[in-house]
Amino acid sequence: MTKRKTIIAGNWKMFKTRKEATELASAVAAGIKGEKDLPEVVLIPPFTSIEAAIESVRGSSIAVGAQNMDWRDDGAFTGEVSPLMLLDLGVKYVLIGHSERRQFFGETNQTVNQRLKAALAHKLIPIVCVGETLDERESGLTDSVVRRQVAAALAEIEPAALDIIIVAYEPVWAIGTGKVCEADEADRVLGQIRATIADLYKEGGHSARAEQVPLLYGGSVKPANIEEQMAKPEIDGALVGGASLKAEEFLPLVKAAQKRVQGTAKTTKDSLSKV
Ligand code: PGA
Repeated sequence: MTKRKTIIAGNWKMFKTRKEATELASAVAAGIKGEKDLPEVVLIPPFTSIEAAIESVRGSSIAVGAQNMDWRDDGAFTGEVSPLMLLDLGVKYVLIGHSERRQFFGETNQTVNQRLKAALAHKLIPIVCVGETLDERESGLTDSVVRRQVAAALAEIEPAALDIIIVAYEPVWAIGTGKVCEADEADRVLGQIRATIADLYKEGGHSARAEQVPLLYGGSVKPANIEEQMAKPEIDGALVGGASLKAEEFLPLVKAAQKRVQGTAKTTKDSLSKV
């Protein structure tokens, strides 16, 4: 059984007004009330609903994250939100380099690295997202793309930061498409990511720290496929989009991750025979 943290994070993307956020966050908090051995549950609303979500989960173990942030503390950067502003709200986590940011908003490996440095400097827990496009997968480039993204994100990052950083593997072709990456394949790519991290830090003798980094899978995670993923050694949790928007779909994901925390996650065969 792994000693790494198990995490279920819900990325709400550009959904949920304050009222809707209050309803959803309250329903998630009510759904896990009194439960033991929970994974770390992180709700990641759009900026405008962060405060409402934080109010709604107060007194529970649920943490709230942001979907992006600028790397500077303040300045003339119209439309941006700084790490200080997130901390001021009580935000604990921040997504960095989500593929939709890379695809639609000019995020690059270099700006991912800048954001990661800023998150660490401000003690926000970063969830760094990597993943290949369909074209890259079909050209056999999955591993090299993902390795490159991880190496670029971690450039000049101190080994001690590996005790804080979380990495999410989200193949772009699996996000919002209903096409989930097979659990074996997600597990394999996450293994590559862990090996990449170990390799990057071997010089100072810090490879072992790679073992501590929680690795998440994201891309069409649903109640129907989570159990299989939670049974894999390298999959420490999930970054969930669509299925995080309804408490009745999100709570079963938390319950499946709870089994991993308890060390009773079913093997693939067991969980399939239950369906
Ligand atoms: P999805 O999104 O679960 O809707 O595929 C995952 C994500 O983008 O984080």
